[in-house]
Amino acid sequence: MAVLKILKFGEPTLRKVARPVEEITPRIITLLDDMIETMRAAGGCGLAAPQVGVLRRIAVIEVEDGVVYELINPKIIAFAGEQKESEGCLSNPGEYGITKRPKAVTVRATDRHGKEYELSGTDLLARAICHECDHLDGKLYTDVQIRACKKG
Ligand code: NI
Repeated sequence: MAVLKILKFGEPTLRKVARPVEEITPRIITLLDDMIETMRAAGGCGLAAPQVGVLRRIAVIEVEDGVVYELINPKIIAFAGEQKESEGCLSNPGEYGITKRPKAVTVRATDRHGKEYELSGTDLLARAICHECDHLDGKLYTDVQIRACKKG
């Protein structure tokens, strides 16, 4: 496994739409492992492949220590309610903003074994799911930020 370099805001790659994963190859598995290690090394709770320079629809989320979700080709299929909480991004270290997000979301994704699953989350997990899915479409949290704030 390896800790990858995280691209920062301003890098054009972060504004591009990522391509779907058509086949889960050993390279994709290695990428997932490296993304998890990179996210943990950076102290984050989510990371999307474009942030490490790979324009593929892949993200990892760990809002609760030891519980990692791997999302390949994720698609939000339901959302409800609203929350306004602070949010940050490993590509914009030290900065935070209040964003408006759904209170609850359900995402459908594929895991590393090629199995499709659904994940439902509220609050922080819902924010993380929205944030990481946005990355795959070249969107950043600052696009939906209401205002900057001090801390996450
Ligand atoms: Ni981010």
